[in-house]
Amino acid sequence: MTDIKILPDAVGLARAAAEHFVTLAAGAIAARERFAVALSGGSTPQALYALLATPEFARRVDWPRVYVFWGDERCVSPGHPDSNYRMAREALLDHVPIPADNIHRIRGEIEPTWAADECERVLQRFFDVPLGGEKRCARFDLVLLGMGEDGHTASLFPGTAALGEQKRWVVAHYVDRLHAWRITLTPVAINAAANVVFLVSGLGKAKQLGQVLAGPYQPEVLPAQIVRPTDGRLLWLVDSAAAAHLARPVTFHTAR
Ligand code: 6PG
Repeated sequence: MTDIKILPDAVGLARAAAEHFVTLAAGAIAARERFAVALSGGSTPQALYALLATPEFARRVDWPRVYVFWGDERCVSPGHPDSNYRMAREALLDHVPIPADNIHRIRGEIEPTWAADECERVLQRFFDVPLGGEKRCARFDLVLLGMGEDGHTASLFPGTAALGEQKRWVVAHYVDRLHAWRITLTPVAINAAANVVFLVSGLGKAKQLGQVLAGPYQPEVLPAQIVRPTDGRLLWLVDSAAAAHLARPVTFHTAR
């Protein structure tokens, strides 16, 4: 199921996302006594984290039952300005009563392929699903994603082999356009989630968003298109600037 919600501006987008986070957390905790979320990097998700840290939202989440993972990480130390862990910690995790043991960062400071392997082992243990062979995959209650102006999401960039990954949940890869290594959840793990929410803001993303949502299906060019939860809900939260190129009513391509 795919929904799109257009909010007037970036502030409205962050509020809608925070409300959704609170609702999903409450639902998962009521059903399974825990809420497992994969956080994203990027400035749009950062506004959500800052809002979730305010008393208005923070008091509505049962933080000791929230388990935090990351959708992707840059290969830097946890205190580095580029670290997605650092961003989420400073914007959110330092300000809410979440136990340190519930925070499972990707270790960007070690050899990238080791970090990806380690992350998969952590997910395997947490979700109690053996890796490989089986059809089942770790199932996050929520995967939060941003989208770059080039249509990338998490650290799935155009033209990268990770887009075709069929088995692994997490991979490390060298991204030529960034001249850097990245560690990322694969489409296998993202599409196994119960909920995936994209947060997209700003005019700079309007053209690509129009292509991602209504253009031909070409995920090797527009990686965000590969996100299609198999048995979950996909929600696009978009501000009106980013929605500028969307036809109304929005039409969705159905190709997979
Ligand atoms: C990262 C992200 C990445 C990000 C998008 C959008 O580590 O960079 O996970 O996928 O979400 O690039 O970022 P903005 O919201 O800053 O445009």
